[in-house]
Amino acid sequence: MTLFLGTFLDTPEDPFAGGDLRVLDGALLVRDGVVVERGTADGLRSAHAGEEVVDLSGGLVLPGFVDTHVHFPQVRMIGALGMPLLDWLERSALPEEARLADPSYADEVAGEFLSGLTAAGTTTALVFGAHFASAVDVLFARAAEVGLRMTSGLVVSDRILRPELLTVPETAYDEGLTLAKRWHGVGRNRYAVIPRFSLSCSDALLESSAALLDAVEGAWFTSHLNENLTEIAEVCDLFEDCDHYLSSYHRHGLVGARSVYAHNVHATAGELDLLAEHGAGVAHCPTSNAALGSGLFPLRRHVEHGVRVALGSDVGAGTGFSLLKEGLQAYFVQQLLGSEGLRLDAARLLHLATSAGADVLGMSEQVGDFSVGKQLDAVWLRPESGTPLDIGLRHADGPGDALAKAFAMGTTADVATVFIGGVPVGRPRPPEGSW
Ligand code: GUN
Ligand code: ZN
Repeated sequence: MTLFLGTFLDTPEDPFAGGDLRVLDGALLVRDGVVVERGTADGLRSAHAGEEVVDLSGGLVLPGFVDTHVHFPQVRMIGALGMPLLDWLERSALPEEARLADPSYADEVAGEFLSGLTAAGTTTALVFGAHFASAVDVLFARAAEVGLRMTSGLVVSDRILRPELLTVPETAYDEGLTLAKRWHGVGRNRYAVIPRFSLSCSDALLESSAALLDAVEGAWFTSHLNENLTEIAEVCDLFEDCDHYLSSYHRHGLVGARSVYAHNVHATAGELDLLAEHGAGVAHCPTSNAALGSGLFPLRRHVEHGVRVALGSDVGAGTGFSLLKEGLQAYFVQQLLGSEGLRLDAARLLHLATSAGADVLGMSEQVGDFSVGKQLDAVWLRPESGTPLDIGLRHADGPGDALAKAFAMGTTADVATVFIGGVPVGRPRPPEGSW
């Protein structure tokens, strides 16, 4: 067993439903990666003398971040600014995505992508894979080495995109099934069925996506929704009887409790009702929405309709892997929305970056906070001495204020160590199959 000492902050009760920030200035006792006891440092130390001690005092210990929307092939093109979605896809994202046809290129990018995520403190992620099965294979293999809790899969499209990124429904199904058989439920990997967005997917391809989802028990589904006004108008031109964007997925049975839709900036009331009714989640990607000029996310309307929302970095339209930055940008947007916005205090920001993500990904039993019985996934934020964040934390007016400062000023450079299942990222991992 191991005793972890520090200031642990988490949100086991939803702060949008009256929950508060929980603070433990003390210790967690961890056995086989799982929290088995919470208590004071002195109390647990004397009750468990002789156990290994990991001292994380100074700074803050937060649950590992959960990124519910991030693109594996886009790490090298983060920062292509100044374009709306469809131009950005054509000029920046898709040419880079085409390069992942080469497995050795994909392998290098997978290494960069996974270290980008974990260095930022992300321990669980729903990842848009690549359009090439060989690249997705490499990603799953690398993620298993790192120990990231990753849900991902083959991205499929059969129209509009450049030809080398296109597939046909039968191949999409067969390649997806092969990948799922190899990786779904292996270690911490899970399979997701991923049509890129209905703009680039025919009804036949969405139908084959639904068949694959049916064929792989416990598989997830993710796609894009209502990101950009031009995109939305084009989708509704392409689909017959289009009530709204979500209907293009819903008619194929693709809206469910294991579905996560990215963006949903321009949601209609009917779509929010449908998402809530089916228990689907929404990945809110604030820096991407700002960088592409997609719009201001209506968080209040989502919460009022009972739609589950968590944060996504949406790298590479998003401007980096840090969910601290995404949280801050989410806060800015809600402030700018005035009375239509929702006040985001530090507890709500932490929830959106951790426990909300675990909930949206169906992993609340395992991760998202530091309760007894949960895996010890943690980010130790410990800014260098003398930096503005270090000064701010040392002079903070309590844990909530310290956490707000972490969201305001924290960056990947302030992440000292990241733990997944109690093991620091970068150290040898327990045998495969363990959570
Ligand atoms: N819609 C379809 N593909 C993408 C993508 O790669 N990024 C974003 N932000 N939106 C998309
Ligand atoms: Zn995206």
